[in-house]
Amino acid sequence: MKKVLAPVLLVILCATACTGGDKAGGKPKIGVAIYKFDDTFMSYTRNAIEENGKGKAAIEVVDSQNAQPVQNDQIDAFLSKQMDAIAVNPVDRTAAAAIIENARAKNTPVVFFNREPLPEDMNRWDRVYYVGAKAEESGTMQGEIVAEYWKAHPEADKNKDGILQYIMLKGEPGHQDAELRTEYSIKAVRAAGIRVERLAEDTAMWDRPRAVEKMDAFYARFGDRIEVVFCNNDDMALGAIESLRKAGYFSNNRYLPVVGVDATAPALQALAEGTLLGTVLNDAQNQGKATFDLTYALASGAGADSTTWPVTDGKYIWVSYQKVTKDNYRQFQ
Ligand code: GAL
Ligand code: CA
Repeated sequence: MKKVLAPVLLVILCATACTGGDKAGGKPKIGVAIYKFDDTFMSYTRNAIEENGKGKAAIEVVDSQNAQPVQNDQIDAFLSKQMDAIAVNPVDRTAAAAIIENARAKNTPVVFFNREPLPEDMNRWDRVYYVGAKAEESGTMQGEIVAEYWKAHPEADKNKDGILQYIMLKGEPGHQDAELRTEYSIKAVRAAGIRVERLAEDTAMWDRPRAVEKMDAFYARFGDRIEVVFCNNDDMALGAIESLRKAGYFSNNRYLPVVGVDATAPALQALAEGTLLGTVLNDAQNQGKATFDLTYALASGAGADSTTWPVTDGKYIWVSYQKVTKDNYRQFQ
């Protein structure tokens, strides 16, 4: 009995384990789901993933259209096509648990990126990873840019009360980058010894047109009492600037400091023009490369430690942020 079973078992095992894939032209198959294509920063990350994958892997990238049910179906399709690994930018980061359980059932490794699952979900399985940046860091850098400006420009305190009156335009509530940038930017301003007063805070969902609307309303309400505008990303910062321009700012020596995060091309342009005070590089090139490198390593069976990226706690790859101001923006263009 044993003698007959052994070769049969070998064949069966080989059909599953030795498949570094029944792959597309011998290349590993990788599925990538992006929460929505219509997001400036994610389009940079997506391009970087695709660039790095050229010639190495058969990559299928899908637009989850900002709907978790759509993304769940896309992931099910990836899994039934027996992708060798998948990379997921979740629509809703709290949906990670279900995604992980489905992937585990097919033994398909998962790399989340940009939207960080909760630690308890990350710990559900040992073939789950995350590539991203430490949200706190970007908030702190943004706050430091503002603090430095405030100290060098006494006229920024328009009502001369010694307190920095600000507006906060938040990204999508619940997103780690929205929550932590909001918190840590203000912490950094306070840590620099500056007193602050929040006039208003609201979400514009990472979106430029929504930021114009919100800022129009804030300006109508607070007018020139506003001294600084913090935005969780550049698209919203550009929206705030567009709104403030209509109110007469950025000409005839009327200025209001606005800060963002991402260092998108239009934001660097705004820095060059002297409207945007500063931003923080959210490094799409390296986040995209790390996401691809790690997913590819897992897909080809090489393991997470085979890439050049340091892996923290067995499952995280962290890419650093960088401050960007008028002094150094050229190096990012
Ligand atoms: C953030 C980025 C935002 C938006 C968001 C999407 O890291 O700063 O602009 O792209 O990710 O999840
Ligand atoms: Ca003031």
